[in-house]
Amino acid sequence: MKRTKINILTRLETTPGQVLVKGWVRTKRDSKEFSFMEVNDGSCLNNIQVLANKDLENYSQIQTITTGTSLVVVGDLVASPGKGQKWEIQASNVEILSLAPESYPLQKKRHSDEFLRTIAHLRPRTNKFGAIFRIRSEMAFAIHKFYRDRGFKYLTAPLITGSDCEGAGEMFRVTSLTPTEVQKQGKMDFTRDFFGQEANLTVSGQLSAEMFALSLGDVYTFGPTFRAENSNTSRHVAEFWMLEPEMAFCDLNGNMDHGEELVKYLVNHAMEFCEEDLSLFFQFVDKSLPGLMDTLVNQEFGRLSYTDAIAVLKKSKKAFEFPVEYGIDLQSEHERYLAEDYFKKPVFLTDYPKDIKPFYMRMNADEKTVAAVDLLVPRIGELIGGSQREERLDHLEKRMEEMNLPKEPYWWYLDSRRYGSVPHAGFGLGFERFLMMLTGITNIRDVVPFPRTPGSIDF
Ligand code: 4AD
Ligand code: MG
Repeated sequence: MKRTKINILTRLETTPGQVLVKGWVRTKRDSKEFSFMEVNDGSCLNNIQVLANKDLENYSQIQTITTGTSLVVVGDLVASPGKGQKWEIQASNVEILSLAPESYPLQKKRHSDEFLRTIAHLRPRTNKFGAIFRIRSEMAFAIHKFYRDRGFKYLTAPLITGSDCEGAGEMFRVTSLTPTEVQKQGKMDFTRDFFGQEANLTVSGQLSAEMFALSLGDVYTFGPTFRAENSNTSRHVAEFWMLEPEMAFCDLNGNMDHGEELVKYLVNHAMEFCEEDLSLFFQFVDKSLPGLMDTLVNQEFGRLSYTDAIAVLKKSKKAFEFPVEYGIDLQSEHERYLAEDYFKKPVFLTDYPKDIKPFYMRMNADEKTVAAVDLLVPRIGELIGGSQREERLDHLEKRMEEMNLPKEPYWWYLDSRRYGSVPHAGFGLGFERFLMMLTGITNIRDVVPFPRTPGSIDF
């Protein structure tokens, strides 16, 4: 007898015959003659119905099967006479691997996202979270495919670093000093620390990416980044993944063109390769999602300067919690108003005041604003943050002085402007924010396998 392991989604249509399925029981119901089980192997959203009839030698044991039980089924894949499924497996053998007692938290009923967060180790076994994490996996692959197809080189930037790229001081310290040693010294003596100086988890791979863009041309990093922002919002986590392309011989317009091409590509990829999983979100999470996808793919993104955006916000009749003034760092409510209500589509905001942006952004001719760009999207707010970089050594040094940044630790960064500097630009796209946009999930904690937020590091 030939037994093949099948993917219960993809091969059902074409290979009726003897099949083998390994998975977990979602539900079971019994009649006098049969047990019907909905089995899911995690590979896709759909379950396969398994029919175990009373002639099976371990039928009495099969009757004890509960929701959550793991098993291996061998049987014939046949067209199902019943309603609700095209195919079913008529089992010739059911091997129970492990029963799940009644305390199994995922009994058949709808659980709230809040509750499921408390069992983050089990939530990927639900339809919704299974779908989220399959989409997450596919989209990570899509990112690499997009860049490889375009000749970008993939750079793995260090996660432990001595520099604070964003200058916001929101860093997690990396140290091998023990509390006892620190107490004995009466202070953190970094010269005695592992690296002989302060070290942090990276907030961005950008500075490394710039060095490689000025060597290999177009590059990107895609990896974890860490921020010790003490803000408990639905859009921030302490550990998140950022995609950071960095392009040599590129200006702010090229940067925006690239960002738009990227987002459109990724959304198209999701619609092509995650169709079944996305359908769950379209149906049960946010009915406006298909419309948003359509906008993302088919409409040209807006472009507007920060200064003009402030004028738009001031003219709006909306009562904002944070008052709008030139010079403010836009709040999520402002960003969402611009994308959701005013433009009704994604919009690039450019040329922010220098005082609210990091040292590396290119100074504009007005000496007041820098060549920054954020991409604001409906429902999310900021999805992308980036800029054209200051490639002129004298301007960069002047800006660092103004901002009281010591130049010595950045000697290598300044070198890149000293030797063969070229215009270059890049941005960071928050992977989790992108997944929220795709799925309509409103809390970032629900698109991260095991989220890290202030006061919470379970699992
Ligand atoms: O705007 P940010 O801070 O930009 C940078 O770090 C640049 N160095 C990137 C670059 O130019 N290479 O962060 C980029 C994006 C944001 O737009 C947002 O989507 C996401 O990263 N992000 C977060 N996502 C989740 N949790 C957080 N705490 C985040 N902080 C930023
Ligand atoms: Mg930003």
